Amino acid sequence: MSPSARPKNDVFLRALLREPVEYTPVWLMRQAGRYLPEYNETRRRAGSFLSLCKNPQLACEVTLQPLSRFELDAAILFSDILTVPDAMGLGLYFADGEGPKFERPLREEWAIRDLTAPDPNVHLRYVMDAVAEIRRALGNSVPLIGFSGSPWTLACYMVEGGSGSATDYRTVKTMLYDRPDLMHHILDVTATAVTDYLNAQIESGAQAVMIFDSWGGALSHAAYREFSLAYMQRIVAGLKREHDGERVPCIVFTKGGGQWIEAIAGIGCDAVGLDWTSDLGEARRRVGDRVALQGNLDPMALFASPDKVAAEARRVLDSFAGDAGEARKSGGHVFNLGHGISQFTPPENVKVLVDTVHSHSRRGSARG
Ligand code: CP3
Repeated sequence: MSPSARPKNDVFLRALLREPVEYTPVWLMRQAGRYLPEYNETRRRAGSFLSLCKNPQLACEVTLQPLSRFELDAAILFSDILTVPDAMGLGLYFADGEGPKFERPLREEWAIRDLTAPDPNVHLRYVMDAVAEIRRALGNSVPLIGFSGSPWTLACYMVEGGSGSATDYRTVKTMLYDRPDLMHHILDVTATAVTDYLNAQIESGAQAVMIFDSWGGALSHAAYREFSLAYMQRIVAGLKREHDGERVPCIVFTKGGGQWIEAIAGIGCDAVGLDWTSDLGEARRRVGDRVALQGNLDPMALFASPDKVAAEARRVLDSFAGDAGEARKSGGHVFNLGHGISQFTPPENVKVLVDTVHSHSRRGSARG
């Protein structure tokens, strides 16, 4: 039997759809991860990060870990954005302390021409099984978020063979400028792969989806639209927006994309994620009520003393709400960090953060 469609705590879904909420929902990017000792323990049992991702039972176990410690309003599938290029045959591995790498980076024209979109229900079956398993384990409690990388962000890893930031994305950007035809081909196939992958997650039970465009902010103004945003727009247009009679909201997050927020809000998504360099109130004025906003505490603020953590959380809430606190009760804000949580974060501070978001936003709505 499938679990009933609307979770008991649906404040996250309502905020994304800009429906009234009694408090601001919160979840954290990378909420299941190395800052939690219980995560490190499960990862050790799995043998490696990748075997953890590929084991639906253990992936489910770590997905739930942060929820039993903190009053988070959503769960996020435990996986990685790089499972898609792995399923395309590039050979993902994690070298200790060096982050993700590919055995066969995409460099040769023939390999690029050979690239095909994997069937998610076959090549990424373990992800779909994890989604279904997590939904069963969550029961009717909080919604489950599915996700994927954006085509551009995935292409950065695929062409560079690892994180491109250390080399200023030299290889992938050389291809972008010299051989835009090849770059577009990679992005075209990857956009199809991502659309199929997210739709399969939705069919397996994901109740909202998020596209991580972690390296979109590395592009020039013109290149961002042509090589990243256009493909995310195509994906959003191809997503199943309803499942089991419920809307499935979609969040788009371009790290470093604050200056392009109107353009992002225009691609048909329900919400835009912002990193910590944007002011939420200003962002809200710029996009009006076209989309909800998600963000945007600096993850490094979590290293400060608990009272500073609480003060920074209140500052983010107040920046969205404006002076009168008016906006808060009308929904439209999902509290999050501006990027993934650091592995060195003290878990006690995460509790302070989550509790402060709830208590301060409840107070705000009572006052308004
Ligand atoms: O938010 C969640 O809890 C869901 C799980 C999740 C992970 N990665 C788990 C993970 C999500 C949503 C991601 C997305 C992801 N992965 C992105 C987009 C978001 C972003 O951070 O910009 C990117 C760029 C990746 C690629 C990737 N995977 C990197 C750069 C790393 C870090 C390498 C390192 O050693 O710091 C990973 C590994 C990874 N993905 C870990 C986790 C918990 C840590 C791996 C471990 O346990 O050793």
